[in-house]
Amino acid sequence: YLFVVFFFFFFLDIRCERPDEKTTLQVRAGESLYLPCPNLQCYKETENSSYVWFRNLSSTKQVEQIGTEESERVHYHHSVLYILWLNLNDTGRYITRWWYEEDNCDEFETDLVVHEEFSTDLLYHTMAEKKVSGIYCPVCEDQQGSITWYKNFSLIPNQESDPLRIPNSSKESEGIYTCVCTWEHHGIKHNSSGSRRLIIEGRFITGLWFTLILNCSVYFGQTVCERFYYLILTDGKLYDAYVIYQRNNLDEATSKTLSDFVNGSLLTVLESYYGFKLFIHGRDDLPGEDCMNLIETEIQLSRRLIIILTPEASTDKSSVSPEAYDLQVGLHQALVQGETGVILIQLGKMQDYTHLPLGLQHLLSKNSPLLWRDGESSPNSRFWKRVRYQMPVVSSNQNQQKSNDIQVL
Ligand SMILES: *[C@@H]1O[C@H](CO)[C@@H](O)[C@H](O)[C@H]1NC(C)=O
Ligand SMILES: *[C@@H]1O[C@H](CO)[C@@H](O)[C@H](O)[C@H]1NC(C)=O
Ligand SMILES: *[C@@H]1O[C@H](CO)[C@@H](O)[C@H](O)[C@H]1NC(C)=O
Ligand SMILES: *[C@@H]1O[C@H](CO)[C@@H](O)[C@H](O)[C@H]1NC(C)=O
Ligand SMILES: *[C@@H]1O[C@H](CO)[C@@H](O)[C@H](O)[C@H]1NC(C)=O
Ligand SMILES: *[C@@H]1O[C@H](CO)[C@@H](O)[C@H](O)[C@H]1NC(C)=O
Ligand SMILES: *[C@@H]1O[C@H](CO)[C@@H](O)[C@H](O)[C@H]1NC(C)=O
Ligand SMILES: *[C@@H]1O[C@H](CO)[C@@H](O)[C@H](O)[C@H]1NC(C)=O
Repeated sequence: YLFVVFFFFFFLDIRCERPDEKTTLQVRAGESLYLPCPNLQCYKETENSSYVWFRNLSSTKQVEQIGTEESERVHYHHSVLYILWLNLNDTGRYITRWWYEEDNCDEFETDLVVHEEFSTDLLYHTMAEKKVSGIYCPVCEDQQGSITWYKNFSLIPNQESDPLRIPNSSKESEGIYTCVCTWEHHGIKHNSSGSRRLIIEGRFITGLWFTLILNCSVYFGQTVCERFYYLILTDGKLYDAYVIYQRNNLDEATSKTLSDFVNGSLLTVLESYYGFKLFIHGRDDLPGEDCMNLIETEIQLSRRLIIILTPEASTDKSSVSPEAYDLQVGLHQALVQGETGVILIQLGKMQDYTHLPLGLQHLLSKNSPLLWRDGESSPNSRFWKRVRYQMPVVSSNQNQQKSNDIQVL
């Protein structure tokens, strides 16, 4: 009887929603893993929540529940799973079942692949840039730990900062950068590492950029203009990111969510807090400017594209609205020039991505978007750290450099 009841409970009564979020993690044997629930709310909202973790190991192909016993090599504590001293047999699918209400639950899946030796599969996004000022550590987003950096697998002495600063980037800066994070669990030290390849594109030439400023005043009914030319030395880019989002034909709720996100969190965190420079339509374009030309130029002048996905993003290909156009230009650039430059942010839940343009669906098949839900407005939240990780590194003396670089001719 007991067995039958349990059987029904397990297979019939529990219907957790499975949001379309899948994460794949590549890790190294011998290291340890601190794995928070891959969804931010699930990870953070531990109050009034309960959790169960399951695994379906590749070797057994059976779903089994994981225990909470701290002495076990594999155990969980609320929304965090610990796998200590990873071995190849830990490869498989890990499922977090999150009860956020008494009778409501979500399930999130993380596919884990353990590698015995270093392999290029372990590499996080490649950074391909003309100029960089640093590299963010891809691991230890949610933990306290001390950091050591390696370049091409040799220790970089006395570098414990995140991001790792690269003062004068050049062709010699290329290579594989590994960040090793050492953290403690019950007094025992564990390591988690993440590696990323840096490529310096093209010959190292700083761009020359001329800006014409007109200063006009009206004297006795006559307009007199003075011209100033500014010379700016840069890597050829003016913006850290160009933000693409749908601006028309949205229902009221989506429109509000979007505008709260773009005008709120996005600006506060990326611009005010982290110091990135964004190009945002409606704010940075001048009225009456030739829209199509402007879009192409501005996208080319941006180091990243941030594409914000909303449930109703338009598929209307016949439309030549600026927003459809910037998406088209942006996607073309991203697909032709490689995907390193695109950051996908999804606002709220979506059943699937079939309503999106094909190019975007292609990008989505390779990179899962970062999911944003209301309330993740702290710069130290996991969501913003992940966005920051995909952004170029803000140079620490950027303001000073800018003013030095601008000279009146
Ligand atoms: C948890 O539940 C209690 C009682 O229902 C409620 O007062 C409290 O606000 C809840 N906390 C959160 C974070 O939802
Ligand atoms: C476990 O994973 C395998 C694939 O690795 C799958 O075929 C199988 O159905 C899964 N088992 C359960 C009970 O979901
Ligand atoms: C992994 O599984 C294989 C086969 O079940 C077993 O022989 C081996 O000892 C396991 N390795 C570890 C490190 O547990
Ligand atoms: C970086 O380059 C500048 C000018 O080319 C030079 O003065 C400075 O010493 C260099 N810094 C490092 C750390 O190489
Ligand atoms: C690191 O390795 C890359 C190739 O992966 C090579 O181009 C680069 O010169 C190496 N850098 C150093 C400092 O050895
Ligand atoms: C952990 O990383 C540190 C720093 O890179 C290293 O000195 C130490 O040997 C590593 N420990 C293990 C168990 O790999
Ligand atoms: C523009 O011209 C006016 C009048 O000549 C002058 O007072 C002002 O400082 C100028 N502004 C800039 C930015 O040069
Ligand atoms: C942000 O605010 C500006 C001015 O307040 C407005 O014109 C713009 O449409 C807003 N952007 C979004 C996405 O709502």
